[in-house]
Amino acid sequence: MESIGNDAGIRQAKTLPAASYASPAYHEREVDRVWSTQWVCIGDVLDMPAAGSWRAITVGRLPILLVRDREGELRAFLNVCRHRASPLCEPEATGSGAALTCPYHAWLYRLDGSLARAQGVGNPEGFDLADHSLKPIALATWRRWVFTHADAAAAQPNFGPLADAISAFPLESMEIAITERDERSFNWKVLLENYSENYHTPFVHPQIDTSGTHDYPMVSDGLVLYAWDRPLHPTDEAGRAMAQLQPGDAGWNAVATASTGHPYDRGSYLSVWPNLMVNVFPDAALAMWMEPTAANRTVVHRRLYTHVAADPDSVAATIAAHRLVHLQDVDICQRVQRSHDAGIDADGVLATIEERGVYWVHQHVRALNL
Ligand code: FES
Ligand SMILES: [Fe+2]
Repeated sequence: MESIGNDAGIRQAKTLPAASYASPAYHEREVDRVWSTQWVCIGDVLDMPAAGSWRAITVGRLPILLVRDREGELRAFLNVCRHRASPLCEPEATGSGAALTCPYHAWLYRLDGSLARAQGVGNPEGFDLADHSLKPIALATWRRWVFTHADAAAAQPNFGPLADAISAFPLESMEIAITERDERSFNWKVLLENYSENYHTPFVHPQIDTSGTHDYPMVSDGLVLYAWDRPLHPTDEAGRAMAQLQPGDAGWNAVATASTGHPYDRGSYLSVWPNLMVNVFPDAALAMWMEPTAANRTVVHRRLYTHVAADPDSVAATIAAHRLVHLQDVDICQRVQRSHDAGIDADGVLATIEERGVYWVHQHVRALNL
């Protein structure tokens, strides 16, 4: 685990050039180097097809077919017929049944991707149905989120020890309070940077009381950046413990799950490179994942989770607070994107404490060598 505030590099760091957020050519390279060749989040487990059904999605430029067989096993394949490359179904289309039929020449695939029949194919030399299964895509699940990787042989993603910092939160048993999908006018990194710093909070979200927290502790390890609220003047035992503890210390989980009755006064914040952002509060959790559609367009998916049997009034208040904060973030991100679209480099420095998370984003971006 790395305490990024101690990294001397941030003192020399500069903000990224506008082209990183606005150039179509840069975006195309990024699609190749990130969205088509790294683990990316594709959704909540509840977004996945039910047994005996399928759904087509696009990740980067990869057409993917998510299929759950009748036994409940979820698989992912390239949504490309092994005959002459017709998609088996259109993007976002869903279907169900015992088998998938290609719409072009009716080759028939089982739900495990194997080719069951190639009607009318005649007698091509050496032809064997077993050589023409759909090409698989790797899948992984962490907590309640599903990830894909284009390389079927890719090692499972290693989110490292910081992913365990929220292991005590009962995310899997929470209910979804809102499901939202919006296409926004900004590059995906603008939102990831915004999410990874608290510097803007007093100015963009004046209604959030930040006086009780101070200088977010923030650590990173590989794919995960983790920050958490820490009381500035702890007045009780739990607060004192929280001010001292680090993720992984004995007692961390007990403190991290202690309910205070105030949903927004203790939070854990995870950025999972490249496209998942997770907030966990004692009373609610939020996940956002992104799907870039162009250099300056990004689909943002959001799920707000609350506890089963939570008081409806407090759920309504949590939803309203979340929507307000999110729209404030969207607004500033879209305004920043206008400067990027105008091709103007800010050429700025980073705040050495407050923008450690932005530096973490930039380190990942620079490592791509685009
Ligand atoms: S392209 Fe699918 S059956 Fe021909
Ligand atoms: Fe914000």
